[in-house]
Amino acid sequence: MNKLVDNYNRIHNYLRISLTDSCNFRCIYCMPNEKMQCMPYNHLMSPQEIFTIAETFTKYQVNKIRLTGGEPLVRHDFADIIKKLSNLPVELNLTTNGVLLHKYVTLLKEINLNTINISIDSLREEKFKFLTKRNAFNQVWDNILLYVNQGFHIKLNIVIMKGINEDEINDFISLTKNFPIQVRFIEFMPFNGNQWKKSKVITMKDMLTIIDSQFSYQKIKDNNNDTTKKFKVEGYEGTFAFITTMSQPFCQGCNRMRITADGKMKNCLFGKDEFDILGILRKKGDIEPIIHSFLKNKHKKMGGQFDNFMKLNPDYLENRSMIKIGG
Ligand code: 5AD
Ligand code: SF4
Repeated sequence: MNKLVDNYNRIHNYLRISLTDSCNFRCIYCMPNEKMQCMPYNHLMSPQEIFTIAETFTKYQVNKIRLTGGEPLVRHDFADIIKKLSNLPVELNLTTNGVLLHKYVTLLKEINLNTINISIDSLREEKFKFLTKRNAFNQVWDNILLYVNQGFHIKLNIVIMKGINEDEINDFISLTKNFPIQVRFIEFMPFNGNQWKKSKVITMKDMLTIIDSQFSYQKIKDNNNDTTKKFKVEGYEGTFAFITTMSQPFCQGCNRMRITADGKMKNCLFGKDEFDILGILRKKGDIEPIIHSFLKNKHKKMGGQFDNFMKLNPDYLENRSMIKIGG
């Protein structure tokens, strides 16, 4: 069977689908400062359209799908969407801010959801509120405990920013002592409107120096297409990892494609190129050849926009903001 291969011989078997560009949080590193205009509902893919697009990708050996946003759980038809997708022969994952997770525990068990990535950038109520502009730490934390106790595979996503939360790195590592979770530290990335400065980036190397002061740990093996570099503190239940988009991009092994909530295919988080596959689908066109040919435009590195983040001026980065792409 045909695979989805780009011009650099990278096989693409992983699709990230954004369900919405709206969110019930306002994280400082994600949302542009200006008041956000959300897409009108009829611009978003319907549950059936999401299914049709996803099914088309699975014909070409896509075997992993992640639902993202915005916040995917704010969609009132989320249950319908995920139930439909659970009929496809794929590993299904979810990225969420966690605040609505308690409403879906039965459903997500039923459909055997593989892993859930929950964003939580601080373990302190006040700082959490500053970072997300919402007073929701306790609800998110309770939901993390609920899902861990129910046996789900849970990963925590933490964006580390200088002067904001690097002092909590070791607290997050301590969580892995008794919880079989993975905590993942993400290097702060530039997107339109998120006030990125290279001086706010803390790299994996910097973080390991902080961790060294308190823990003795081992490197554990990463898989081929992994975007994380994994470690484990000796004797701890869980693991910790880094997403080194900034200091060591992992474009070489990239196997990912994205669909924005309004049905545009994107080959890269950092690329400005997109193709309106929902538009073609709504005109009863054939999206299969387009998916293949659009993937051939994929750039070798970083959406073709920059090679070296140290030289980057984000004002010249042509892209959507993170919330409009899907994380
Ligand atoms: N830099 C790094 N990670 C980010 N995320 C959102 N914005 C940024 C950014 N500027 C992450 C969030 C969330 C995921 C969807 O993307 O932590 O977990
Ligand atoms: Fe919402 Fe996630 Fe963006 Fe925060 S990072 S505003 S939770 S989409």
